[in-house]
Amino acid sequence: MKPVVETINLKKTYMLGKVPVHALRGINLKVYPGDFIAVLGPSGSGKSTLLNLIGALDKPTEGKVIIDGIDISTLNEDQLAELRRKIGFVFQFFNLIPRLSALENVELPLTIAGVSKSERRKRAMELLKIVGLEDRMKHKPTELSGGEQQRVAIARALVNNPRYLLMDEPTGNIDSKTAAEIMKLVKKLNEEEGVTIILVTHDQFVANQAKRVVYIVDGVLKEENT
Ligand SMILES: Nc1ncnc2c1ncn2[C@@H]1O[C@H](COP(=O)(O)OP(=O)(O)O)[C@@H](O)[C@H]1O
Ligand SMILES: [Mg+2]
Repeated sequence: MKPVVETINLKKTYMLGKVPVHALRGINLKVYPGDFIAVLGPSGSGKSTLLNLIGALDKPTEGKVIIDGIDISTLNEDQLAELRRKIGFVFQFFNLIPRLSALENVELPLTIAGVSKSERRKRAMELLKIVGLEDRMKHKPTELSGGEQQRVAIARALVNNPRYLLMDEPTGNIDSKTAAEIMKLVKKLNEEEGVTIILVTHDQFVANQAKRVVYIVDGVLKEENT
């Protein structure tokens, strides 16, 4: 089987003034269709950096990200925009728009893409139902619990029907009981909707829900059984 996402000798060095910070030191990762991978590592190990590079939100210092067989550094702006529609991103701090209702937050990517109001409303309602928030659609983010806000963020990430879901510490800011519910939902999306998932976390319990766990320490990756 061919990988759908692959990183080859991926390196990222930030400059802090004149001091280089080697956040990633040559990451080789292969992700296959239908995978659910957890990248487990302590704070500062390079997890967010890796996820941002895979999601084309940032550029590597060295090395490549290949998605669906294409080196993403060769894409122009239009092609990148198209690629980003295939990728749903869930952030640690939800990043919901405070003024908008749950429904409007989920609709937002479709609003930006110019989808008609009736169509985007229908699609957003479907997604909110999948994440179990059909009775919270009119609520603003501040009127929702942390777990509910994260479910809105997951619904928003899925609204374009992405093939890939990238999740940065999706349970980092919610209690452990709610985290377990969120992980149940993520598992279901992988198993029933066939979404390929790459999740990064510092939480062993969360990582254990994935089909495959890889470890990252100081910007270096280690597979589970090696
Ligand atoms: N914009 C930046 N400028 C300088 N250093 C950064 C920047 N972003 C992250 N780093 C550093 O890179 C390393 C990896 O960070 P990050 O990928 O955020 O780790 P994690 O998500 O695992 O906590 C850390 O040492 C962090 O301080
Ligand atoms: Mg991080």
